[in-house]
Amino acid sequence: MDIKAVILAAGKGTRMKSETTPKVLHEIMGKTLLGYVLDNVKNFVSEEFVIVGHHAQEVETFVKNNYTDARTVLQTPQLGTGHAVSMVCPYLENFDGVVLILCGDTPLIKEETLKEFVNFHLAQNSDLTVMSTIFDNPANYGRIIRDKDNSLKCIVEEKDATLEQKAVKEVNAGIYCLNWGKVKSAFSQLKTNNAQGEYYLTDIIAWGKEQKLNVNAYILQDSNEIYGINSRINLAQAGKIMNKRNLEKYMQNGVTIVDPDSTWISEDTEIGQDTIIYPSTYIEGKNKIGKNCKIGPCAHLRGGVEVCDNVKVGNFVEVKKSRISSNTNVGHLSYIGDSELGEHVNIGAGTITANYNPITKTKSKTILKDNVKVGSNSVLVAPVTVEEGANIGAGGIITKNVPSWALAITRSPLKVIADWVKIQMSK
Ligand code: UD1
Ligand code: CA
Repeated sequence: MDIKAVILAAGKGTRMKSETTPKVLHEIMGKTLLGYVLDNVKNFVSEEFVIVGHHAQEVETFVKNNYTDARTVLQTPQLGTGHAVSMVCPYLENFDGVVLILCGDTPLIKEETLKEFVNFHLAQNSDLTVMSTIFDNPANYGRIIRDKDNSLKCIVEEKDATLEQKAVKEVNAGIYCLNWGKVKSAFSQLKTNNAQGEYYLTDIIAWGKEQKLNVNAYILQDSNEIYGINSRINLAQAGKIMNKRNLEKYMQNGVTIVDPDSTWISEDTEIGQDTIIYPSTYIEGKNKIGKNCKIGPCAHLRGGVEVCDNVKVGNFVEVKKSRISSNTNVGHLSYIGDSELGEHVNIGAGTITANYNPITKTKSKTILKDNVKVGSNSVLVAPVTVEEGANIGAGGIITKNVPSWALAITRSPLKVIADWVKIQMSK
């Protein structure tokens, strides 16, 4: 079955109260909300359409730079979720497969769940399936209204709901499967006679029933997965839910997380067995950490980091876009960026790789070969290579390549002035 995804990402996101960032480009652990949704569909759909509108330029650029296979479609003005989907009609005139619709603001949905949802749609011979779930506090979500025989009737938005409808705890997840050939004509028939004066996508349920289509709901067990982000409070809560899920996965795979309450690890990080993550560590973006490593306390891995086996990344160490080979230690208070560290390297406390030139605004690489030892409080001014086994004396400011097994030292000679203090005091 040919499946295409439509991701709604044109809305203003008014409740986020942001002047600079469109809602779907807000981030959780270094990845945008839209990125999570695209990653969860890209492996099983043949094409992704992202509907953009508010801050269209930024969202388009993000999609172009990160998801080259996805297409963006402009919705302007933004007249509601139903209007947003109607924007793909010209592109899908002859399409006769399944369209999976999702919102760009629900990053917690899992790929397995979406596949199961599509399979349910196909197994039920459904024309139109909506994902629902049960929330103890359903406020702000559309409510699923059922007939006496329990079959679906319609979806009512919170703002249009009667008190009785507001009491319903089954809510619309905002994820739908449509047999496009049968449902596409709905989009030219939606009305705006509702509290928000918008074309509601949710109205396709009642439309489908009127057309005597096979309309079904798939009830999702883990309601956390469809937690939608409308405000900064939701954003923080979604981060917590996602992080808990990630940490449990790592622990189940044999990673020790000393304090799950203060540790953050992104879902795109791989961690080997018997690695220990100490408290207050923050790991965002895509990273790979080997076996038997010790990370933290208070370490910050910022993405693009590869840490091999038996590595120590200690207290207050920040690492970005770098590879640290096995048996290497970066023990304390260091910054390692755009670097390659060999095996058995030792980095003294307070070492900095100066990777950024603020004049040219370029970043350069630091390469430390196997067995290099860097004395405390050194600055490695990139681009720079320290060849195998070389040592850097403490306080070194290294602006040139250092050959193998050499000592590089930039210290001025130590002066010791005998009795200096006593002389001062007797003046
Ligand atoms: C929507 C659903 C609601 C459901 C909830 C689930 C409607 C009318 N309501 O409500 O039933 O419970 O999602 O999270 O569909 N968007 C556009 N163009 C527009 C308007 C919105 O692309 O013109 C996008 C937004 O960027 C967002 C998504 O559609 O990603 C949902 O819009 P939002 O305003 O957040 O809808 P909710 O009020 O959350
Ligand atoms: Ca929403």
